[in-house]
Amino acid sequence: MTERHATLSIDGNDLIELPISSGTAGHDVIDISKLGSTGNFTFDPGFMATASCESEITYIDGAKGILLHRGYPIDQLANNADYLEVCYILLHGDKPSQAEYDEFVALIKNHTMVHDQLFQFFKGFRRDAHPMAILCGVVGALSSFYHDSLDVNNPRHRDLSAIRLISKMPTLAAMSYKYSVGQPFVYPKNDLSYSENFLNMMFSVPAEDYKISPTIARAMDRIFTLHADHEQNASTSTVRLAGSSGANPFACIAAGIASLWGPAHGGANEACLTMLEEIGSVDRIEEYVAKAKDKSDPFRLMGFGHRVYKNHDPRATVMRETCHEVLSELKIDDPLLDVAMELERIALEDPYFIEKKLYPNVDFYSGIVMRAMGIPVSMFTVIFALSRTVGWISHWKEMLGQPGHKIGRPRQLYTGAAARDFESNAKK
Ligand code: SDX
Repeated sequence: MTERHATLSIDGNDLIELPISSGTAGHDVIDISKLGSTGNFTFDPGFMATASCESEITYIDGAKGILLHRGYPIDQLANNADYLEVCYILLHGDKPSQAEYDEFVALIKNHTMVHDQLFQFFKGFRRDAHPMAILCGVVGALSSFYHDSLDVNNPRHRDLSAIRLISKMPTLAAMSYKYSVGQPFVYPKNDLSYSENFLNMMFSVPAEDYKISPTIARAMDRIFTLHADHEQNASTSTVRLAGSSGANPFACIAAGIASLWGPAHGGANEACLTMLEEIGSVDRIEEYVAKAKDKSDPFRLMGFGHRVYKNHDPRATVMRETCHEVLSELKIDDPLLDVAMELERIALEDPYFIEKKLYPNVDFYSGIVMRAMGIPVSMFTVIFALSRTVGWISHWKEMLGQPGHKIGRPRQLYTGAAARDFESNAKK
């Protein structure tokens, strides 16, 4: 196939030919890596039209509401695979055989415990510390326990770190919660499934066993799957940029957790529930929708809008179904769900939201489901981070496995002071 290219002309003069590449699906890309030689940079704050890398892991078509993990549609994975099977697919590129699945599950189970010395680490936090603050700190500290797997150029070390992170995130997440409520830590139990184990570490107490509801365990597993990966979102791009310098995997994942915490990103599920509680009743929705439309008001409807999805978020569709399943199974009549349903109806009919293509995203329903499951609001983003760890580490591994990968180092448009001499005004 003949190579296609774009020609950049400035003031009528052809400057450079830029090769165009096509992927399996989605937008073609114009390779501008040689553009600097013309004395020009591209300028794209927020990366609205910039592809930062080549990847085989996840594909999103925002216009059609499509999300594929290694080619498999998210709704089929959510309904027919469990989270660890999705982890295998994201890490290895294809679905596992029964033997490969069983081996992977056993491997994950063999790494669920954390070094006992970490228990001391938690004690440095205030009891009322946000669990995300604790998780961010503790995951970064893991690198001080695993000197045997920090050579990022060693594929075996990369694989071992990936397993350790996927295995230990539920343990650390549950410990972050237990510490914040003053209850003793609960050790992992390897006779439980991944989601059952997490729920048990979250909710069981020494005084009595925790009865695991299959409905809640299934919903938890589905929430893990729906949040597993999402292409080059802010936190995944943070992990890739940190990893491009050769930083160890635990530091990179801690950076991803920090980025995810923002309310515009993974913090939206917690912010969405706080917003629904603030709205409080259906008759106050109009007031808040007006605030969201008011340019002078920074308020936005948490759980609505998406940089890529300008159609429905396919994860929100599955999450909505899960939400109704959990609420009807548990016979929970949550007034906040009534507010959420009416807010969704109004927003989907409002010309402002239609024109700006603002649809409910995955965070809109995940908060309501988790609240129905008894998960405290402060843990919503922690669960997002737990789920997304496999996506982050898959992208980290993919980047380091690509020959010739470089450290990420964007340039800028400088609009500061021109060069000038310095004479101090301060008497020393
Ligand atoms: C996640 O990237 C990912 O893949 C993220 C994620 C993942 O899985 O990793 O999908 C997870 O982060 C989902 C998004 C969760 N965030 C929220 O729900 C927070 C509320 N949403 C907004 O903050 C916003 O929609 C973003 C941040 C999600 C997207 O912002 P963009 O693409 O940068 O769009 P924008 O902010 O430029 O908004 C476009 C227009 C603006 O109006 P104009 O300036 O054009 O007049 O839409 C308006 C915005 O004011 N707008 C909203 C709105 N979101 C955008 N107005 C009211 N309420 C909102 N929620």
